[in-house]
Amino acid sequence: MKILVTGGAGFIGSNFIRMYLDRHPDDVVVNLDKLTYAGNLENLRDVEGDARYSFVKGDICDREAVDGVMPGCDAVVNFAAETHVDRSIGDPEGFLRTDIFGVHVLLESAREHGVGRFVQISTDEVYGPALGDPFPEDAPLNPRNPYSASKAGGEYLARSYFLTYGYPVIVTRGANNIGPNQYPEKALPLFTTNAIEGEPLPLYGSGEQERDYMHVLDHCAGVDLLLEKGEPGEIYNIGAGNHMRNIDMARFILRELGKSEDLIVHVRDREGHDFRYAIDSSKLRALGWSPEFDAEGAVRDAIRWYVANPAWWMPLKSGEYRDYYERMYRERLEEAGASG
Ligand code: NAD
Ligand code: DAU
Repeated sequence: MKILVTGGAGFIGSNFIRMYLDRHPDDVVVNLDKLTYAGNLENLRDVEGDARYSFVKGDICDREAVDGVMPGCDAVVNFAAETHVDRSIGDPEGFLRTDIFGVHVLLESAREHGVGRFVQISTDEVYGPALGDPFPEDAPLNPRNPYSASKAGGEYLARSYFLTYGYPVIVTRGANNIGPNQYPEKALPLFTTNAIEGEPLPLYGSGEQERDYMHVLDHCAGVDLLLEKGEPGEIYNIGAGNHMRNIDMARFILRELGKSEDLIVHVRDREGHDFRYAIDSSKLRALGWSPEFDAEGAVRDAIRWYVANPAWWMPLKSGEYRDYYERMYRERLEEAGASG
């Protein structure tokens, strides 16, 4: 098999490529990534010398770039996306471009080149808040921010290629991933690296919002299984059921690091903040998947990685990140009486 992984220099994509090369010694992986602020070739330093792996810098919205890597591929796994909800609230356009139009370009090229499988990586955010039972795959969609609305657009489009053209698309809807190499704008790496540096942990609102914090390796194992055993045209939830409130995650991080809870600062809430996500993954479990990490195990493993790898995240917390952090948090922290 030769597979095209898009967005492979990001958090989940890089973990997936490493796992895939390890599990499939005879296969070849091409990584197409635009290297936005979230793409980082450091994430794959250990595999870049592997003859089965190659990297191509390119945009999934650029048909020529996509056509350049598609010939001979047996499958596409599309991780490439703009992914941070807070950035989508401030500046949605890039989300619509990559998360919808980019999916269109990939689908067109893959279909034209007769690529036999297409996995569109979507998100549990498309269901919107889950205030009752976990959502099964046929629950109605209710995306409520520009990121999740764009991801819903992308997956609807992908599914339409199956329904219209019979093109073999699989859609996955994953829960919140945590683990190595996650850009420190997301809650877990942001809280952990701030705590290590003795900086405040900016907790939105009450902090009672809840997420299913799944280890990235469990997510990648689910995607790998679906690449092989997923039914074309089907949608699969991938969630570990690791429910944790944000405030409990912040406290857990501080306890693990031996830091004071005084570092938690309740700041102005995210606009339209979805209170809780919860998905039912029994369809994937029936294919043989089960997560290796429970909630505390996943969070603990992730914390340890950031403690052990300051050389990875410290350089990221300057430049573009610093500007973003100032824009996003300065006023919030000041309003809350903390300087940050
Ligand atoms: P990330 O932000 O860490 O990485 C995204 C990658 O995509 C980066 O390497 C970036 O350079 C690349 N990229 C962005 N725009 C591109 C473009 N136009 N062309 C080519 N490459 C481009 O994201 P992540 O957290 O690894 O998420 C990967 C995928 O998984 C996304 O589709 C996301 O929606 C989905 N997802 C994420 C989570 C999560 O908790 N992080 C959960 C469920 C689903
Ligand atoms: O559910 C899957 C989704 O999980 C993915 O599709 C997204 O790409 C990914 O970013 C993630 O979205 P969230 O918005 O849930 O993740 P984030 O890490 O941004 O926030 C997790 C929770 O923590 C959420 O309830 C908001 C809260 N939070 C986040 C940040 C950045 C804070 O309280 N303070 C913060 O500074």
